[in-house]
Amino acid sequence: MEPYSPGKPIAEVKRELGLERVIKLASNENPLGPSPKAVAALKKAAEEAHIYPDGAAHDFRAAASAKFGVPYDQVLVGNGSDELIHLLGLVFLEGPEDEIIVGHPSFVRYDASAHLAGSRLVQVPLTPDYRHDLPAMLAAVTPSTRLLFIANPNNPTGTLVTKSEVDSLLENLPEGVTVVLDEAYFEFAADQPDYPNSVDYINSGCNVVGLRTLSKTYGLAGIRLGYGFAPPAIADAINRAREPFNVNSLAQVAGVAALEDDEHVRRTVENNRRGLEALAGVFEKLGAKPCPSFANFVFADLGRPARPVFQALLERGIIVRPGDVLGAPTCLRVSVGTEEEISLFVEAIEEVMKEPVSA
Ligand SMILES: Cc1ncc(COP(=O)(O)O)c(C=O)c1O
Repeated sequence: MEPYSPGKPIAEVKRELGLERVIKLASNENPLGPSPKAVAALKKAAEEAHIYPDGAAHDFRAAASAKFGVPYDQVLVGNGSDELIHLLGLVFLEGPEDEIIVGHPSFVRYDASAHLAGSRLVQVPLTPDYRHDLPAMLAAVTPSTRLLFIANPNNPTGTLVTKSEVDSLLENLPEGVTVVLDEAYFEFAADQPDYPNSVDYINSGCNVVGLRTLSKTYGLAGIRLGYGFAPPAIADAINRAREPFNVNSLAQVAGVAALEDDEHVRRTVENNRRGLEALAGVFEKLGAKPCPSFANFVFADLGRPARPVFQALLERGIIVRPGDVLGAPTCLRVSVGTEEEISLFVEAIEEVMKEPVSA
């Protein structure tokens, strides 16, 4: 199993390259920072850090239940949605007899859930326009398939599948397969007319798990709080498998406050819309092919090895994500930053792409 390769930390790049200013557009974080309401709640809650957290995460789950309209017992919480992916693997996969189906490239933590259980990983290539190929994923299902993961929008491509595509997948899927709709970037895409919301499927009794996170629009990636929705039996199994205090007390109070902070989400989505346009614009100008993105990053095919471009940007103090670690060696993934960060990126990539191709 390959170790997870995270975006390079700012401090490490400063140290290694002797740079004073380094910006990170590599981990799809919120460039506007955390929800201010969450920060205020965190400061207050720090005074009670000597008390164990509420193991049921009652207040956060009740707030999520009310806000999204899913029964309380069907709301899941995890130490980031990463943990919920891990727990799904623990609960569903027993060994080599089981398999999961994922798109490729897609979010790499799904792969780990299969590897850790010694189960089979079936990767189905995305369509030529970098979308999940749901008919091909359906065709890959066998009696051993337990989970089928769809990141929607997908990471690293930012692309969407539509409601009619998911409807048709679910209509044709054998009973024993659970579909995981990973909606980590939900708030960026929710206004798309044909966006398939996991809540609607779960409330109508489909065998679907929805995953969401406070790490993106709410700006709380460092606090680690993911949540999700599942049919009652799956929610019950995950609840038994998780550690008793898997969500710490600071994350719980920050999460409650953040869910009330619609204004922060609105500002984030608005900044993101402008950022996506600017990033797609510069890639097009340079002859690269950006995917239409419905998340907070742009994935672009440079038509040449992206690793040297990544390295040249790094030397200019800009950290992005090279596609080779994501299974697409000619592509770069760049997260939306602040207006200033995007201007710095645009300036740097225009300079770097003028340089001759090196191997
Ligand atoms: C598609 C997808 N799912 C899940 C996650 C994990 O998010 P977290 O563990 O911070 O909630 C990410 C993070 O980038 C992601 O892109």
